[in-house]
Amino acid sequence: ASAAAEKDVVVIGGGPGGYVAAIKAGQLGLSVACVEGRGTLGGTCLNVGCIPSKALLNSSHMYADAKHHFKNYGINVGEVSYDFSAIQKQKDTAVAGLTKGIEGLFKKNKVDYLKGWGKLVSGNEVEVAGLDGATTRLRAKNILIATGSEVTPLPGVPIDEEKIVSSTGALALKSVPREMVVIGAGYIGLEMGSVYQRLGAQVTVVEFLDNIVPTMDAEVRRAFHRSLEKQGLKFKMATKVTKGEVVDGRVKLTLEPAKGGAAESMECDVCLVSIGRRPFTKGLGLENVGVKTDSRGRVEIDSHFRTSVPSVYAIGDVVPGPMLAHKAEEDGVAAVEIMAGKHGHVNYATVPSICYTHPEVASVGMTEDEAKGKGHEVKVGKFPLMANSRARAVGDTDGMVKVVADKKTDKLLGVHIMGPNAGEMIHEAALALEYGASAEDIARTCHGHPTLSEAVKEAALAASFGKAIHM
Ligand code: FAD
Ligand code: NAI
Repeated sequence: ASAAAEKDVVVIGGGPGGYVAAIKAGQLGLSVACVEGRGTLGGTCLNVGCIPSKALLNSSHMYADAKHHFKNYGINVGEVSYDFSAIQKQKDTAVAGLTKGIEGLFKKNKVDYLKGWGKLVSGNEVEVAGLDGATTRLRAKNILIATGSEVTPLPGVPIDEEKIVSSTGALALKSVPREMVVIGAGYIGLEMGSVYQRLGAQVTVVEFLDNIVPTMDAEVRRAFHRSLEKQGLKFKMATKVTKGEVVDGRVKLTLEPAKGGAAESMECDVCLVSIGRRPFTKGLGLENVGVKTDSRGRVEIDSHFRTSVPSVYAIGDVVPGPMLAHKAEEDGVAAVEIMAGKHGHVNYATVPSICYTHPEVASVGMTEDEAKGKGHEVKVGKFPLMANSRARAVGDTDGMVKVVADKKTDKLLGVHIMGPNAGEMIHEAALALEYGASAEDIARTCHGHPTLSEAVKEAALAASFGKAIHM
């Protein structure tokens, strides 16, 4: 083992939670090291998550647009085809550039980067099993656990990452399957299902519950479900997969109604298991130092990101809360600010969530049902993109904006958007919520014309005054 080095902070995990925390620590003048075992920085998000999936979503969207929609705009392109290996290469280039970029940011912000797997040996010591074979011990005033999450396996359906894949395998397929079954109609299932459906696969999504993406506002979710069906995705709701095996290169699945009943079988070329993710703490040595986890394996923290061991903090996917990259980043910044004696804080009520399908679905704050469940008397304003001039001009009108506000005070409670660019449009609503705005505040804010964002203003008008202008 090499000589012990004393740091203010040692971060274990170089994903969006850990690497952002490390950079922020450097900026606050703390001495910091970041330990990452996968060989590249950026974690799940950059390597096998957010970024590669968005590259494939973009390429497949452009292909589907050219093939099916260009003629609507009077553009003739002849036969449209794609080169799947070139699509994959574009994705890999984007990922490689970004992960290297973080190494540059580490140098700029004086973050020591250790390539290897970290293990807690005490509340102030981390042992790193280096990828080069060397073992290093780091001493630290504070340790930040940012080890993220991994795929939740489905019993009876063993993942081989070629035929039965997780999102990681689905991002790296060598060819587009003819038939694909997606297990789980959540974020990964609908995004990756969309990618392959657009590229020509027949995609069937099998979902245990009666609804897709259970966390979405019910009304928006139903419109979204219809939109995906119109595009050609097939759904088998209230159904569970009990067995999956590869026979002669095909995947044979056994399905059962969720509430019990006769089993049926189904075949496909590739099956994607996307039923959720779980915290990753394997080999971390939590038990060595007494860091407590809950019944779902999540590291328990207090409102200051402190674990049951006071010098050890935890953030991101490994702690309770939404498993989102931007949430992990906010956690990371706040945790490090607290270590530096500042007042780091995250407002979880204003964390947006976005599904990057087409149309996109984005939301912030409470759904209508959630607001009612919390005892609010609500008023709701809605505006369809069919009535929005920009959406009409560009011929992309499938979608709506829904504003939920408190009936008595007009205080904004939640905003839900389905439509092209919903993921960009949601942030005015996030800002409004953060500032404690009323629906009228949005309704009286001048919005540029013609933009899709005017639909947010119109829905706010409908919520606040009972009437939109253009409806
Ligand atoms: P991670 O990104 O998982 O990073 C943890 C890192 O720690 C890993 O690199 C791991 O190798 C390392 N590590 C673990 N244990 C150790 C150890 N003992 N020693 C050293 N290193 C260790 N979120 C969004 O907000 N938007 C999206 O569009 C989006 N798309 C996604 C698409 C897919 C297919 C997937 C799978 C996820 C997606 N997510 C998205 C979720 C997002 O990736 C996670 O919420 C985010 O990466 C969590 O960040 P994190 O830093 O907590 O953990
Ligand atoms: P998810 O939690 O979003 O969805 C899982 C779905 O699978 C749910 O609808 C659930 O009811 C269903 N399900 C659970 N068990 C099942 C079973 N046995 N059979 C059939 N269906 C079953 O999880 P997913 O899609 O795997 O994604 C994991 C996480 O990664 C997301 O929750 C999200 O936090 C993150 N992510 C975020 C993205 C984004 O922000 N755009 C994109 C992709 C992932």
